[in-house]
Amino acid sequence: MRLAVVGNPANRRVALFTAAVSRAGLPAPEVFPWREVLRSGRVPGAGTRVRIDSPGEDSEVDRLLREAGSGRPAVAAEHGEIVGGAAAFAGLRVGLARVAAGGGDLLNQPADILTMTDKPRCHAVLSAAGIPVPAALGPVGDYASLRAVMAAAGCSRVFVKPAYGSSASGVLALAVDRRGRIAAVTSVELSEGRIFNNLRVRRYDDESSVAAIVDRLAPDGLHVERWFPKASLGDRVLDLRVVVIGGEPGHVVVRTSRSPMTNLHLGNARGEVAAVRAAAGEREWAAAMESCARVAKCFGRTLQVGVDLMFRAGWRGHAVAEVNAFGDLLPGVLAGGRDTYDAQVSACAIG
Ligand SMILES: Nc1ncnc2c1ncn2[C@@H]1O[C@H](COP(=O)(O)OP(=O)(O)O)[C@@H](O)[C@H]1O
Ligand SMILES: [Mg+2]
Repeated sequence: MRLAVVGNPANRRVALFTAAVSRAGLPAPEVFPWREVLRSGRVPGAGTRVRIDSPGEDSEVDRLLREAGSGRPAVAAEHGEIVGGAAAFAGLRVGLARVAAGGGDLLNQPADILTMTDKPRCHAVLSAAGIPVPAALGPVGDYASLRAVMAAAGCSRVFVKPAYGSSASGVLALAVDRRGRIAAVTSVELSEGRIFNNLRVRRYDDESSVAAIVDRLAPDGLHVERWFPKASLGDRVLDLRVVVIGGEPGHVVVRTSRSPMTNLHLGNARGEVAAVRAAAGEREWAAAMESCARVAKCFGRTLQVGVDLMFRAGWRGHAVAEVNAFGDLLPGVLAGGRDTYDAQVSACAIG
């Protein structure tokens, strides 16, 4: 069966997957750009095995998604502006339905991609499956209700995440001290009432800015969780990205940071897997990997999932921060001599 990819042709994942296909001696997959899926509806047909890749990192595709989702013409967002998350998610649903209607054999299921991309829903699915997650608070519709649910829960430290966000865009690590003073650490840049994603993580300690950011994010949906105290090595907190392929949690990256956000594109550093495993101890490490495998079972008809896994400070216990439908970009990370793409090509047993 021929392989096809639905994705943005300039996306590095598409190139790396294509390279893995060629290493396996298979014909190059045809790439169906998201731009065309959304504009003209051209999708892979029956008789192809289809990898659905991320529609992200392309401003034109983002605009088309928001248009498909809202049914209204959309303007291109200014570079880095955080806008239209809910409409883009609705558009993703439309685009995925088109891909499914093409009749290809899908390696990742639209319903699973949508669940993973919807943070409140994904949290509920994991929680119902008994997988450890930080407790959720809410619902939260604006800054005032955020403070009210925090007060009601007796919770002074939370993570506020856009419901349909990724790459730490719009995420705030927020703490209120005993005197009611607030501090938020985030990559959001507030500029004249608009919010932008910025690679520099900064701290806001004036309540009016924090309230302005939360109120700007809230109409597109928020997911609020207790701040899980992450384990650290030296002066850096850390978590793991674990890619589970065909049920096997084989590829692991340690992400270490001096800020509460560990996402690597924010200038954070990879850490040593062996050092983390030694610090956690075999029993806790095995329990964490077991949780990742259980996460993948929640999405059983999807070939791979990317789990963000946090160990608790002191290394007793762990929790899942989120699950990424498009979280397999771990360049240079090998398991059994294979990168995440080789492992997928081999696990989907193309013949
Ligand atoms: N409840 C939490 N407690 C502590 N840290 C968290 C929590 N949720 C997320 N984080 C940290 O914030 C970062 C971004 O959150 P994540 O849920 O992975 O969203 P995104 O889709 O933006 O990557 C993660 O790298 C993780 O380390
Ligand atoms: Mg993440």
